Amino acid sequence: MTAPPATMRQIRFAGAGGPEVIKIETAETPRPGPGQVLIEVVAAGVNRPDCQQRAGRYPPPPGATEIPGLEVAGRVVSVADDVSWPKVGDEVCALVVSGGYAEFCVADAALCLPRPKPLSLIEAAGVPETYFTVYDNVFTRGRLKAGESFLVHGGSSGIGSTAIQLARQAGATVYATAGSQEKCEFCLSLGATAAIDYRRQDFVAEIKQMTDKRGVDVILDMIGGSYVQRNFSALAVEGRLVQIAFQQSSKVEELNLLPIMVKRLTYTGSTLRPRSTQLKAAIAEGLKANIWPMLDRGAVKPLVHATFPLEEAQKAHELMESSAHLGKIILVTGR
Ligand SMILES: NC(=O)c1ccc[n+]([C@@H]2O[C@H](COP(=O)([O-])OP(=O)(O)OC[C@H]3O[C@@H](n4cnc5c(N)ncnc54)[C@H](OP(=O)(O)O)[C@@H]3O)[C@@H](O)[C@H]2O)c1
Repeated sequence: MTAPPATMRQIRFAGAGGPEVIKIETAETPRPGPGQVLIEVVAAGVNRPDCQQRAGRYPPPPGATEIPGLEVAGRVVSVADDVSWPKVGDEVCALVVSGGYAEFCVADAALCLPRPKPLSLIEAAGVPETYFTVYDNVFTRGRLKAGESFLVHGGSSGIGSTAIQLARQAGATVYATAGSQEKCEFCLSLGATAAIDYRRQDFVAEIKQMTDKRGVDVILDMIGGSYVQRNFSALAVEGRLVQIAFQQSSKVEELNLLPIMVKRLTYTGSTLRPRSTQLKAAIAEGLKANIWPMLDRGAVKPLVHATFPLEEAQKAHELMESSAHLGKIILVTGR
């Protein structure tokens, strides 16, 4: 394998704003520090938080590069002396704190995972961000178990499409909300038992009716605002509500907390990006042991809706913000 070039192409945000601030530039190829590897990026996943970063609402943690991109897949081209795996030449996907929208990206070795056997590197780039998030929030925080029921809002999103498949594989009955008939059908094709078009139907009434008034055991919510109270209503006794975003609002004017006591609910949530490498490495270990076998046998997979060349990252963000996509949007570097 040849040494990485001195310079590479990367995406930069020229200030905070709409997709028009997305620029491509040439910059120095980064070098891995202790515990790190350099990946020649074949593809990088696009996630909603990248749009929030671009709009100036989600800066990278201190010390991290300003270059966007939370997940990559490609070939390892150099490794620090203290890294035993992966090795130069290995094909991996990796969760990164930033820097994914580039031809080369530094990743912590502990956050690299082998390319799942049936997946191309383009598909593998769509794995890390949603799989780390869903595994940690639905199974560790939400404690979803076989035989329980699960509702995910935004079922056709990158996160939602992963959550439906993993919950189904875990033996749960899965419900999803989505914003159109087509999106609902997509959720059903991924293994949801029922999908609720939230623009036409009331998800609380639908869930009550489909569960004989019992409610569901776990809800993964990315909406917040008025959904918080409604989620409490849609939960069963001992239910768990896990918050991973507030697309509507993180503030609720009036909230009746009585259901938390009466139904013995748990309300929790988390963010992934600011957590330490050590905490993320623990999630990676869980994924390797419990989820990678499912990926390797093709039981679950990322659904790639569209790919764009790196230099068309602007179009990728426009598509994501149009919400017309089903599943993942991926940038391809051409390497
Ligand atoms: N906490 C964490 O660790 C973490 C990590 C990664 C991502 N996230 C968050 O997870 C969310 C999904 O990320 P993504 O990359 O998968 O983005 P995405 O594919 O763009 O998903 C956003 C989804 O939300 C749906 N939606 C919007 N309003 C809705 C409503 N009222 N009811 C139901 N669905 C609604 C949209 O569909 P419609 O337009 O059809 O409604 C769309 O499918 C984002 O908010 C992101 O910030 C959190």
